[in-house]
Amino acid sequence: MDNRARRPAILITGANGEMGHGLIHALSQRNADVVAVDLHPLDESLQPLVRAHQAGDILDTQLMQRLVSKYEVTTIFHLAALLSTRSEFSPEIAHRVNVTGTLELLRLAHQQSTWSGVRTKFIFPSSIAAYGVAGKKDRLHPLKEHEYTEPTTMYGCNKVYCEHLGRYFAQYYQQLAAQPIKGGVDFRGIRFPGLISADTVPSGGTSDYGPEMIHAAAQGTPYACFVRPDTTIPFMAMPDGVKALLDLYSAPEEALTQRVYNINAFSCSAQDFYDEVQKHFPQAQVSFDPHLKRQAIVDSWPAEVNDGPARRDWGFSPTYTLASAFRDYLVPQISARYAP
Ligand code: SER
Repeated sequence: MDNRARRPAILITGANGEMGHGLIHALSQRNADVVAVDLHPLDESLQPLVRAHQAGDILDTQLMQRLVSKYEVTTIFHLAALLSTRSEFSPEIAHRVNVTGTLELLRLAHQQSTWSGVRTKFIFPSSIAAYGVAGKKDRLHPLKEHEYTEPTTMYGCNKVYCEHLGRYFAQYYQQLAAQPIKGGVDFRGIRFPGLISADTVPSGGTSDYGPEMIHAAAQGTPYACFVRPDTTIPFMAMPDGVKALLDLYSAPEEALTQRVYNINAFSCSAQDFYDEVQKHFPQAQVSFDPHLKRQAIVDSWPAEVNDGPARRDWGFSPTYTLASAFRDYLVPQISARYAP
């Protein structure tokens, strides 16, 4: 195989999603060659920022192999997933997308590395949904990565398992092969808190009440929050999430002492969130109407996680607090977005 025949590129799956938007903008500022894949055609605003884009299913092996016949994939940001609420309605489909899809991409990453002899980076967003705190939420210290990983959702189970798959590919895949493998997969996972973006509203997640509340307030539409006011989980502004992805991507592999990292920004209750919304949008019409099953899912997630290893190994340090995320990022950008 003549590698010079293929152009080196970064592959992003789930490119149209919330993170994909921010990541594509950030990578285009670094002049990176990005190949974007999503079930739906790439948003028009993103198309000029990428080298190529392809609508299709990550489970479509032929489609993915056609892509690698043209591009030497050096890194995969595997963002495609069914989120936690949606996955409960179609657990088997969630498993196919979240697990089989990840396995196929890990295999593709491995294949690429055997062609190039260089380890393929595989950046994998995981989430606080990897935890299941078993009714102890109010009594726990900020959780470390290995603690309480017995999730109650299909999405959470999928994420925990794929973290293990990634570790397996990075360290043990084809361990009994007669010839040593050149290259391999350099897997790096981040467990994100609930993310809040000014550009997009998430769909199908269970931390969505945060972003939904502020987007509704900016549009002047009433919003019924589906969790109790005291419900607390960690959140993060999307620019910090994208920065974390890129910082972990850029870190030298030798600096990493583990394959999966928690990151934290600010823990806040739905009431704290509402108070900020009201400060900036005094006309906001927010009510609390807990959906018991979705409430139970959020109650199974920790109020706070320990991100010490991410800070130590690759310098993770978020910019935004709850107040500054609203003041400096969310409110200005969301208001401009919905301005008449
Ligand atoms: N935001 C994800 C979800 O709600 C969890 O981190 O599914």
